[in-house]
Amino acid sequence: MAQILNGNLVRDQIKAECRPRVTRFIAKAGRAPGLAVVLVGDNSASAVYVRNKTKTAEEVGLHHETITRDASLTTEGLLAIIAELNARGDIDGILIQLPLPAHIDSQKALLSVAPEKDVDGFHPYNVGLLSTGRPGLRPCTPSGVIEILKRYEIPIAGRNAVVVGRSDIVGKPMAMLLLQENATVTICHSRTRDLPAMCRAAEILVAAIGRTAMITTDYIQPGAVVIDVGMNTVRTREEAERVFDAAKLADFDKRGSLLVGDVHPGDMARVASAYTPVPGGVGPLTIALLMRNTIEAAERRVGL
Ligand code: GUN
Repeated sequence: MAQILNGNLVRDQIKAECRPRVTRFIAKAGRAPGLAVVLVGDNSASAVYVRNKTKTAEEVGLHHETITRDASLTTEGLLAIIAELNARGDIDGILIQLPLPAHIDSQKALLSVAPEKDVDGFHPYNVGLLSTGRPGLRPCTPSGVIEILKRYEIPIAGRNAVVVGRSDIVGKPMAMLLLQENATVTICHSRTRDLPAMCRAAEILVAAIGRTAMITTDYIQPGAVVIDVGMNTVRTREEAERVFDAAKLADFDKRGSLLVGDVHPGDMARVASAYTPVPGGVGPLTIALLMRNTIEAAERRVGL
């Protein structure tokens, strides 16, 4: 039986570790660490993510603010909001929720966030710190993957790790973090030849492609550790039949849609030695790591 790597448990551990740090920070600084989240437009998934982020911030005792603007906001308008947050002494972390509306220059916006407040770890300055192995703010989702591997005592050093997906948010930083842990790292993407064979070489396989249950038996080395970063919604019965077992299919019929990762859940459970389920794997960790990044940014800013 494959071991299920429970992201909810690890999230609760990280949140529990955050609370005493917040208390210590308040004693030293006379205020709580502050997180500002900027939400532009009416993407309903983003609105849900942002609500979850602020709810968790509340639970760990952070000061938090959500700045909401409708989709008519211009790039200049967003830059002005960011400049104001950069200048505020009581805000330690700034998160610009992505995706931004298409007419906004996202690169320009992310570049304008003060690197020391960049709790997403997206600024090129922080990307550079990561790639040169220096301390700095790391992207939350890939950091969450490392946390789950370490806390389940899964060895990384010397192992073949394959990351499928080369996004700036997950794939690339994931590869850099695995490299820092001394894995032998391969990054695969849409132009990779014979993707199944590349994936079968992986002792640790990280799927971050955004394609519903694309990774099947053919891609998984028996006994591999499989980390599924995907979050896809299955909406048709035909797709549900390909992806789910009878119990899940009944659930699908009741709800009309279900969440699934980039890895076929049944194949993963059959072939892997350990895996992160969707939901309940990597997802919960992203927010926990955002809290930790905000506290870290705050501590650094006051010299703790
Ligand atoms: N949208 C989806 N995931 C993320 C994330 O990790 N950070 C931000 N800022 N936006 C996102």
